[in-house]
Amino acid sequence: MISPPTAALIERLLATGCAVAEDYFAPALCQALQLEAEALTADETAIDAGVGRGVDHKSDAAIRRARIRWLDGRSPAQLDFTGRAEDLRISINELFYLGLFDFDAQLALTPVGGFYARHSDSFQGARNRIVSLVAYLNDGWQSADGGCLRIWPLDGARIDVVPRRGTLVLMLSENVEHEVLPTNRSRASIAGWFRLRA
Ligand code: OGA
Ligand code: MN
Repeated sequence: MISPPTAALIERLLATGCAVAEDYFAPALCQALQLEAEALTADETAIDAGVGRGVDHKSDAAIRRARIRWLDGRSPAQLDFTGRAEDLRISINELFYLGLFDFDAQLALTPVGGFYARHSDSFQGARNRIVSLVAYLNDGWQSADGGCLRIWPLDGARIDVVPRRGTLVLMLSENVEHEVLPTNRSRASIAGWFRLRA
């Protein structure tokens, strides 16, 4: 059974290409994931994020500055989070028959001064990302902290999402361009993608 707010969220996603829900993820879950993100600075298995993958991979400081690691279910918080994403995947498929098959996500820590230039989430040769999900983890984020997610929806005027703890953003991966504005504060987030069967 899909709750009315979740149904409204998914309808908005399909109609405008994006949808935002504040306080979607519980504070305790976000706090646990924020601590994991902050540990990426000292984690030798984390990577300095570039753009593209495979042969296209480049760690281009002109495009992005962040430290990332794929979620691998190593903690109860990660399992809780991917469970919530799985609920969304099933709800989206039930309402819109999109045939979303799986989900993968990465934890990201964007340092002070970090950003991500305007892009969409589908890569050359890997057009199977259909819906992008972003979740924000930092407590007490103020507008002056910067780091907003700027989105260009399908229906016109751009919007800026303040990356406050618990906020969920959904976007259509191929069509909806977005950008992370420079952050004045270390910014912890998760970005994930619902995909078709490869
Ligand atoms: C991404 C992305 C947005 C954000 O990782 O592809 O666009 O607000 N992230 O962190
Ligand atoms: Mn993106």
